[in-house]
Amino acid sequence: MINKLLLATGNSHKVFEIQAIFGNSLSVLSLKDLGYSGDIPEDQTTLEGNAREKAEWVFERYRLPCLADDTGLEVTALGGRPGVYSARYAGETDKAFQSEANIAKLLKEMSGITDRTARFRTVLAYVDPQGFIRFFEGIVCGEIADSPRGSAGFGYDAVFIPEGFTQSFAEMTPEGKNEISHRGKAIKAFAEWLQLFSQAGNRDI
Ligand code: IMP
Repeated sequence: MINKLLLATGNSHKVFEIQAIFGNSLSVLSLKDLGYSGDIPEDQTTLEGNAREKAEWVFERYRLPCLADDTGLEVTALGGRPGVYSARYAGETDKAFQSEANIAKLLKEMSGITDRTARFRTVLAYVDPQGFIRFFEGIVCGEIADSPRGSAGFGYDAVFIPEGFTQSFAEMTPEGKNEISHRGKAIKAFAEWLQLFSQAGNRDI
């Protein structure tokens, strides 16, 4: 079993969410912990392509088992947009205002639309210590709210209401969101695989 996992992200929300899932069993490091605060290349046209690109880029530099994620918000009435382009949906803005701008654009595009169904999809790419890559996926279905609600989380959390709930992701605790979220599901699939694979003793991972 590996004891350190390097995340191909500088997003502290993601590090927090992922560390919470592993608890003490694994030490989750971010690129910031290793002194890197620049960007990671992410210029593919699919979530899988971006996750692979980020994981391989980081593994090349640090040679540590590495996990990269890419997530998209796929809105039914918008034909699956913004999807892989969720991060800069409203165009490049000051980082501090990017989420607000993205949400404002989404609500504008959705105005008058009654089908508000959407889903978050996360693809994880894991590069093991030998450089082999594997993919994991997590999906959560839900609806786009009429206006932002709540102040927790990040990105589109304030306008996403997961199926079976009345609160938005931004109105939930981090633990509550992790339990049902796209990234939570993908990480759990990865964690289960990691444990099974280690127990099987197939190879030192
Ligand atoms: P990323 O490339 O995986 O960071 O995801 C692309 C964009 O999707 C982010 O910039 C956020 O706007 C949005 N996003 C990703 N994960 C979440 C989430 O858990 N909640 C809300 N928005 C998210």
